[in-house]
Amino acid sequence: MSSFYVIDANSVVIRQTEYSDIPGIIELQKQSFADLAKIGNIWSEHELQNHLEIFPEGQLVAELDGKIVGSATSLIVRLKTEYAEHTWNGVTGNGLLTTHVRNGDSLYGADISTHPQVRHKGIGHRLYQGRKDITMKFNLRRMIAGGRLYNYCEYADRYDPSNYAHEVVDCRLHDMVLSFDLLNGFKYIKILPNYLEDTRSLNYASFIEWINPHFRT
Ligand SMILES: CC(C)(COP(=O)(O)OP(=O)(O)OC[C@H]1O[C@@H](n2cnc3c(N)ncnc32)[C@H](O)[C@@H]1OP(=O)(O)O)[C@@H](O)C(=O)NCCC(=O)NCCS
Repeated sequence: MSSFYVIDANSVVIRQTEYSDIPGIIELQKQSFADLAKIGNIWSEHELQNHLEIFPEGQLVAELDGKIVGSATSLIVRLKTEYAEHTWNGVTGNGLLTTHVRNGDSLYGADISTHPQVRHKGIGHRLYQGRKDITMKFNLRRMIAGGRLYNYCEYADRYDPSNYAHEVVDCRLHDMVLSFDLLNGFKYIKILPNYLEDTRSLNYASFIEWINPHFRT
């Protein structure tokens, strides 16, 4: 992977996932979610196959020189109320996307990741652009997600999760995931506790929302 250090994000292809990408996505996730991989909390072959059967248009990969270096999994949902509290397992149907509803109003980001050796080159941004295109193509009102508060474990002795998130929103602290989400036009809504078993975020996620400016009622 060392050649990936010198790359142009524009030479990376963002495209819909194909069945043949599944082994590459699993390999990617062992690196991109190394901490979650240790507890077996990355996509399995069965789950990835399900995603393609249920909502193929919502699955994206970033490909560089034939290798999968990024991926983003999405589904369409309608929450019970606009900002209803939820967990990752609940909203994704335990990762199987059985909660996907074509007549929902929100694209939900179940995960997004890039390989550690190709980060900070705009590939994550391009995956989000791809997701925004999906949101517009399906004329959805918004895109939402629970972003794990990636760096919260380093600050938990000084901040509660809400104060920590506000420090990130106000650019006094940097969080690898929330800062990236804000940079991509998302608004921070609130903290989702018990979102995902995760030693980095201590199970806290930020409810984030991007409003589709082209939504037609
Ligand atoms: C979050 C994640 C997907 C971001 O991916 P990425 O490919 O690094 O994203 P980008 O390159 O678009 O943006 C990341 C940062 O690099 C910066 N950047 C982008 N292009 C750059 C360039 N050419 N030169 C310098 N910096 C650049 C961006 O401004 C952004 O800055 P920030 O750190 O202030 O947010 C990635 O860090 C990741 O996979 N994390 C682990 C998995 C995870 O927890 N995912 C989220 C929860 S599901």
